[in-house]
Order: sequence, then C-alpha cells, then structure tokens
Amino acid sequence: MDIESNKELKQLLLEMAEVADFLWKRGWAERNAGNISISVDHCIKKPLQNLEAYPSFELDRAYPKLATKHFLVTGTGKRMRDLARNPLENARIIRLNNKGDAYWIISQQEIIDNFQPTSELPTHLGIHQMIKERGSQEKVVMHAHVSELIALTQSAEHCDEDTLNKLIWGMHPETMIFIPKGIGFIPFVMPGTEEIARKTIQSLADHDMVLWEKHGIFAIGSSVYDTFDAIDIVSKSVKIWFMCRSAGIQPQGLSEEKLASLRDLSSRF
Ligand code: 13P
Ligand code: ZN
Repeated sequence: MDIESNKELKQLLLEMAEVADFLWKRGWAERNAGNISISVDHCIKKPLQNLEAYPSFELDRAYPKLATKHFLVTGTGKRMRDLARNPLENARIIRLNNKGDAYWIISQQEIIDNFQPTSELPTHLGIHQMIKERGSQEKVVMHAHVSELIALTQSAEHCDEDTLNKLIWGMHPETMIFIPKGIGFIPFVMPGTEEIARKTIQSLADHDMVLWEKHGIFAIGSSVYDTFDAIDIVSKSVKIWFMCRSAGIQPQGLSEEKLASLRDLSSRF
C-alpha cells in the first residue's frame, strides 16, 4: 500500500511525525521510548486484495473486533526523533486477518528492513479493541516515558490512585476539566506482556489514562494532538507539584469543594 498517494493517510502520518517531535523535545522519548498507533480504517476506501505478497505475523491472542482493521503503528526500536524526520521509515500500516489473530504489514512489500511493530502491540491492540467494544470515538493510543510521572511513581505514597489523582487535579483547574476520570495506576509489570495489556485495558475502563509504575503513561484520544495534550496537561500538574516541593513549598492543592464544582463543569463540556 502506498501511503504517499492516500491524502488522508499521509496527513495522519505527518501528524504522527509532528507529535513524535513534541515527545522527543519534551524529553519523554529517550532512545526508542514510546510508541503510537492510529486506527486508519476510515482512510482506506479500497482494501488490498493480494495480501499474500506481504509479510504476515501471528498474534498471541485474537482480537475479533479488530478483524480486517487497519492501524498505523510505530516500529519496535524506532526513535521518536527519527519518526519526526522520516515517518515512512519508522511507522507502517498493519491489517489484521479475518479472525483478528494475525496481521500483515501492508506498507512494506517484502521484508527489506526487518520492520516489526512496537513491542507494546498487545496493549495497543487490546485498547483499540476496547474502544470498538464500548463504541467510543478514540482512534489514537499513545505511550510515552513522561519523566515527571515516572518520578512520582518512585514514591510509595504516590503509587496509589486516590493520592495520585488528588495531586494532579489539585494543582490546576484544567486537569479536572480535561482529565475528569483521572489516571489509573498499575504496579510494576514486565512491559510488552499480555499481563500489562490486560491490566491497562481493565484500568482504562474507568480512567482517562493509565500510569505504569517506574515506566510511563498510556493515553487515548481522537487525534494525536488530543492524546498528546491529555498527557501534557497531567505532566504540567505534576511539574507544578515538583516545583513547589523543590522550592520548599508544600502545595495546597484545590479543595474538595472546588474540585467538585470543576467536575460538574467538566461534565457539561
Ligand atoms: P518499542 O520500541 O518496542 O516501541 O518499545 C518502546 C517502549 O517504550 C516499551 O515500553
Ligand atoms: Zn515504554
């Protein structure tokens, strides 16, 4: 499949590249850290027929709701700063088979460069399947190593959803407005596993994003910009908290009453 000749796909690839640059410049994407996937079915008017010509790979489990669906995914080991400069080399389109238990890399005619999707594919696909099941409109799944958030999980006190969410909501009113369901927290689990995928999906059922202990964040959104912004808002709150602490200030946070009014305001957005 030629991404260059599909205007909508090309636009999504450029947006992905721009946000990859934001992640790199924020310091949230050291080496190959972070990965992005975008559901792109709506851009593909005529699905390819001769799929035998493309490399195919089995998945460890089936994603029936994703059968025949297409995703633009970043490659494992790829750098966000390289994705920003050269998106076609660092992200590809995959298409799941009729059962949703295998995929083809269809923006690569033959294995010329050993491109493989991100090692966090189980979490990405699991989340896309969850989005389909609940019928919501998100198209993007993004993972980043956000330093401020990882730093917070070095403190046992903050490895707790109530404490974590009180902190992020309390630092700035916009956090409650845009992240009203807060962050889910997952105690350390090996990355790239089905276990971390399962726990992340469970947690996203009632949170806006999920923080992996001593690792990073997973967020979802309708565009790469929305998804990045959600992570950015949370990171801003945590940065304010750390700034206060390093200046010897114990941050006051917003009162429960003010948070309740903000939650109310958020529900009207
Ligand atoms: P990949 O290079 O496989 O995408 O892994 C990066 C990462 O952040 C793993 O959690
Ligand atoms: Zn990671």
